[in-house]
Amino acid sequence: MRGVAFWFFASAVVYVTIGMLFGIWMSASHDHTLAAAHGHLNLVGWVTMGLFGVYYHLVPAAAANPLAKVHFLLATAAVWLMFPGIILAIQQQTELLAILGSFAALLSMLTFLFTVVRTRAATA
Ligand code: HEM
Repeated sequence: MRGVAFWFFASAVVYVTIGMLFGIWMSASHDHTLAAAHGHLNLVGWVTMGLFGVYYHLVPAAAANPLAKVHFLLATAAVWLMFPGIILAIQQQTELLAILGSFAALLSMLTFLFTVVRTRAATA
């Protein structure tokens, strides 16, 4: 695994490591109020980023396109905004980061949808 596929997958492993540590902290403290932030870090950070990494590994034509790097930046912004954003929203401080993170996640997935369809059309 190399290039953008590696960056997606390596990021995913870092995010799930942080997510697991966060889960252990929640369990140990018996304080589950931030469970939604933990769930999103693991599902958007680990599962989604990891799947993107596997896709780009399996489809090198998609990984070679410059749009793959834009996709990586959008997906990374989604995780970095959404995780603290959900924490701040639960603590009733601000919803702004969670909103920005949600739209970054949506843009990231739309970019991926475009990539999947375009690469299929180009390589069929
Ligand atoms: C060391 C590993 C982990 C620990 C100790 C842990 C711990 C926890 C705890 C304590 C909760 C709150 C449960 C509740 O209040 O009902 C929780 C919720 C959750 N966890 Fe984990 N977890 C771990 C790994 C993972 C992983 C790998 C994923 C996903 C791939 C995951 C996804 C979720 C989800 C979706 C929720 C529900 C969030 C919500 O209620 O909004 N967790 N976890």
